[in-house]
Amino acid sequence: MSIPASQAASLPMPPLGLGTFRLKGQTVIDAVKSGLSLGYRHIDTAQIYGNEAEVGQAIAESTVPRDELFVTTKIWTEQLSGERLIPSLRESLAKLRTDVVDLTLIHWPSPGDAVPLKETLDALMEAKRLGLTRAIGLSNFTVAQMREAIGIVGVGALATNQVEIHPFLQNRRVVDFSKAQGLHLTAYMPLAYGKVMTEPVLLDIAARHGTTPAQVALAWLLQQGFTVIPSSTKPSNQAANLTATALRLSDEDIARFATLDRGERLANPDFAPAWD
Ligand SMILES: NC(=O)c1ccc[n+]([C@@H]2O[C@H](COP(=O)([O-])OP(=O)(O)OC[C@H]3O[C@@H](n4cnc5c(N)ncnc54)[C@H](OP(=O)(O)O)[C@@H]3O)[C@@H](O)[C@H]2O)c1
Repeated sequence: MSIPASQAASLPMPPLGLGTFRLKGQTVIDAVKSGLSLGYRHIDTAQIYGNEAEVGQAIAESTVPRDELFVTTKIWTEQLSGERLIPSLRESLAKLRTDVVDLTLIHWPSPGDAVPLKETLDALMEAKRLGLTRAIGLSNFTVAQMREAIGIVGVGALATNQVEIHPFLQNRRVVDFSKAQGLHLTAYMPLAYGKVMTEPVLLDIAARHGTTPAQVALAWLLQQGFTVIPSSTKPSNQAANLTATALRLSDEDIARFATLDRGERLANPDFAPAWD
């Protein structure tokens, strides 16, 4: 008999997960099913992606037991108040067909500080106490906002800050602050939405290792200790991305990445915080 997910011990976050932003309907069902059959054990979704029900369907129809899978969702900006957060998370759980998620993130800091951060973090801590999520964390938080969050709940209460990091946006201030504080980072859009594939320096490093720029970019992030969550709809790309965990870049390879940082931010909605 399988143990209900809420009673199983907490899983560590697998360093390589499958992103699902933009993927809807049958596309996301197929992508998640294929990812799970290839060995992905970490799925990243969000309320605003409008695909939690399809992600839940794909998980339910797969052969992977729920307690072997790490599932992250993110609370949308309109649900950050103390009143709304837990009911919205319960809706996410119903769509995902699970009684607990492994990680719940604040998707974006409350635009214009409309909801005080303490109110949202208190609601998330309560969700954790209620067994609705095993861990809580941040996304798109700047240094000042990370500092504020750490001041409220302590660094140990926060599993990660999920932020945009790829060769063209290396996000050094956020990275340095997080390292100094011991706050784990998850790199989203790790392939710069496919742009890494045509970058000459990455093509050269990839050729030397007999691999592709996608794997090189992922290995560079993994070697810095970040979790990565590339998305792909193609089983061949999903499989290739998984092999990045086995690729070891040399110090010389890594030094060459420094030349690629051009502060190119791809996720920058009008309600984004004042970036570092
Ligand atoms: N917290 C946030 O605010 C936030 C914001 C953005 C993203 N995210 C998360 O981060 C995840 C990843 O970001 P993303 O999906 O925007 O971009 P991404 O993972 O950087 O890039 C995805 C693109 O790269 C292509 N690709 C993937 N693997 C490839 C390979 N091996 N070779 C060639 N092309 C490859 C995919 O095409 P194919 O489908 O054709 O393979 C797709 O077009 C999202 O899905 C989401 O879960 C979070």
